[in-house]
Amino acid sequence: MVETPAAAPFYAQGNFAPVDLEVFQEHLRVEGSVPPELDGLYLRNGPNPLDHDFTRHWFVGDGMLHGVDLSGGAARWYRNRYVQTDRLADKRGGKVAPDAHRLGRSEANTNVIAHAGRILALVEDAVPTEVAPTLRTVGAYDFNGRLATPCTAHPVICPLTGELHFFGYSAREPVVTYHVADQAGELIRSVEIAVGAPTMMHGFAITARKAVFMDLPVVADDSLLTTGIPFRWADDYGARVGLIDRGALEDSVRWFEVDPCYVFHPLNAYEDHDGSTVVDVVRYDDFWRGGPGTKGIEPAYLHRWRIDADGQVSEERRDDRTIEFPRGDPRYIGLPYRFGYAIRTDETGSGIGSRTMITYDVVSGRSSEFSFEEGTILSEFVLVPASADAAEGEGWLVGYAYSSRNDTSALVIMDAERIEKGPVARVWLPQRVPQGFHGNWIPRQAIGA
Ligand SMILES: [Fe+2]
Repeated sequence: MVETPAAAPFYAQGNFAPVDLEVFQEHLRVEGSVPPELDGLYLRNGPNPLDHDFTRHWFVGDGMLHGVDLSGGAARWYRNRYVQTDRLADKRGGKVAPDAHRLGRSEANTNVIAHAGRILALVEDAVPTEVAPTLRTVGAYDFNGRLATPCTAHPVICPLTGELHFFGYSAREPVVTYHVADQAGELIRSVEIAVGAPTMMHGFAITARKAVFMDLPVVADDSLLTTGIPFRWADDYGARVGLIDRGALEDSVRWFEVDPCYVFHPLNAYEDHDGSTVVDVVRYDDFWRGGPGTKGIEPAYLHRWRIDADGQVSEERRDDRTIEFPRGDPRYIGLPYRFGYAIRTDETGSGIGSRTMITYDVVSGRSSEFSFEEGTILSEFVLVPASADAAEGEGWLVGYAYSSRNDTSALVIMDAERIEKGPVARVWLPQRVPQGFHGNWIPRQAIGA
């Protein structure tokens, strides 16, 4: 365990602290049994500041990927690698170039996805960085020169079309641009979206026909530049949810006012049979009133906005437990759905991670919970369908869990329909995986690895 003074920021302590080694190990020890249908890579991204520089916020450390390869019921390997961007190369070479923020000079630390045969490491202030299935970095990827804005860390892949829907935002005009890449990965549309000011736009959602934008009151404040995340809550900004046709060729967003709040992560959105649009999110009542802090993150709750066909908005908190890392079945993104998965966040003091996961049935309102042993901290878990034609939610929840008992981490696999029974497998890793951000299951056929 890394020893740090108690006054240090939360992200310098315990399992938030970075690891120093890039490790590769084969033939991992499995407790339980790995479902044989899991054939691919689980990859997850997170900040791992090279120089242990904790003066800037947790959100801005150098990106490091942690991956496990599963096949035939075995865990073939674990490895972790920095995303080797030009920015990291400069840092390693002792060249500090703070002026040189360009779209390809990224910390690439927030998410990792696969689309159109490419694996892309993402952070919201830069273009993607392509990596190989070995996690070796290929380089900045700007859709063959067509992407002229940053790319959100939360693109959405439409299960109906295979399209990649995403946006870029920045503090300069155009503040927000909505992009669509087709199933083959070609960037086919870019539409500028007007918002009130540079708002911190972390995620968005799609339905079968629309994209859902959130224009929320956490906005740019240059006096906070030294934090690395120059944004803070603004009481006078208001809050809006916007709908735009996915095929729109110009800004035609219809905006709807909602109660002020902040949202990093929608769980899902869809069009209901009565013509209303339902948007399920993890909602903060307010966020970063004084700018990014070092003590932790505010509480957030599962929340539903319903925008009816007449434009009336209703809001409902759907659960009183504080959560983050909402995920759903990838085959139901943008569609009427039933199941969501999240991690409770109220047990560590940081407001990030805990030893408890939840599955929600958003139709019945029921939920299930499972708590791991004391000393466990969970990261995000993702739903991997048992097969292409399995029922919604029939499959496996996969993610990393740190154990302070032995100061290491495991890749944990849960039966998503029976989380209360505990893990079906724990793949023990040769080192701990620091608390990080987002990952995805990448089926082997998606990348030809
Ligand atoms: Fe995120």
